[in-house]
Amino acid sequence: MSSFKKRIFSGAQPTGELHIGNYLGALKNWVELQTEYESFFCIVNLHAITLPQDPKVLKQKTLDLARIYLAAGIDPEVSTVFIQSDVSEHAELAWILSCVARMGELERMTQFKDKSKGSSERAGVGLFTYPVLMASDILLYQTDLVPVGQDQKQHLELSRDLAQRFNRDFGETFVVPEPYIPPVGAKIQSLQDPSKKMSKSDENANGSIFLLDDPDTIAKKLKKAVTDSGTEIKFDESRPAIHNLLTIYQLMTGKTPAECEANFEGKGYGHFKTELAEAVIEFLKPFQEKAKSYSDEELNEKLRVGAKKAKEVASQSVKDVYEKIGLI
Ligand code: TYM
Repeated sequence: MSSFKKRIFSGAQPTGELHIGNYLGALKNWVELQTEYESFFCIVNLHAITLPQDPKVLKQKTLDLARIYLAAGIDPEVSTVFIQSDVSEHAELAWILSCVARMGELERMTQFKDKSKGSSERAGVGLFTYPVLMASDILLYQTDLVPVGQDQKQHLELSRDLAQRFNRDFGETFVVPEPYIPPVGAKIQSLQDPSKKMSKSDENANGSIFLLDDPDTIAKKLKKAVTDSGTEIKFDESRPAIHNLLTIYQLMTGKTPAECEANFEGKGYGHFKTELAEAVIEFLKPFQEKAKSYSDEELNEKLRVGAKKAKEVASQSVKDVYEKIGLI
């Protein structure tokens, strides 16, 4: 019975275009874990509006992200897939948790510092309380494990702290979630600057391979990818550009690190990049075909069913919280 399984929860923002970093750091692991755990995968549109969004584009991107989840292999018959704003409990619990969180701990969040570009005067309050809404997402489902990339680790620690503080002050209420950060692929770097993570908001599109990029674009971006000095194609931390490209190759082909290195022994960067492009194109082909196969109606129906299932769990948690704190 599914109720004996541990739970996972994760999500992505429907902003920009999803790239292979999002896939390798997060979605790939969601797919691998979805049958072992009772799984909730959310499209976090309330998080998206912490930065300005065009309403029409946001609506379309929200549906497109559902398309990407399903094309990546998330099975809505197995996992609960839904849109955050369809389950109002996310916003309700976020308010309660914002009364539990401390200004100081939110001020320490590095993503807020990055996204507000150091100016809290002009940053939205929602951007500041972003991690509290994320804690609400996770804690509502009594989540055991949260599969994310490395950049979400600090937010996860805050979710744990808030769960523990609430439990201490009001009695056992929330499961304290553990992060699941994959040993390989948790931080795929930009193809243009291997000291920065591959990012949806990167102004330079050549830094990222998007999941829906066509074969030509993929080949061109990889051709332009920066490399390090030296010639050997080996996993060497001191040569971050090649290390990053080899990591992508490893995850896309399923080869071991030793097999990857053996494959390119005595070969040059040109050869390596061509073979890497072939591997990425080959990998994305079935994904892209599948993504095209879902109609909007079909997706909306699956999301409606997902929201209903999610709400059943979320409303129980909110009821419990309201009782514990004396609201009902
Ligand atoms: P988002 O939309 O920025 O990214 C979605 C997932 O992709 C991972 N990721 C990466 N992994 C490897 N290499 C990269 N270069 C890379 N870039 C992004 C992210 O770590 C993430 O797992 N705050 C979250 C969304 C969220 C969430 C949640 C996640 C809201 N509530 C509750 C988990 C649980 C975010 O902005 O992800």
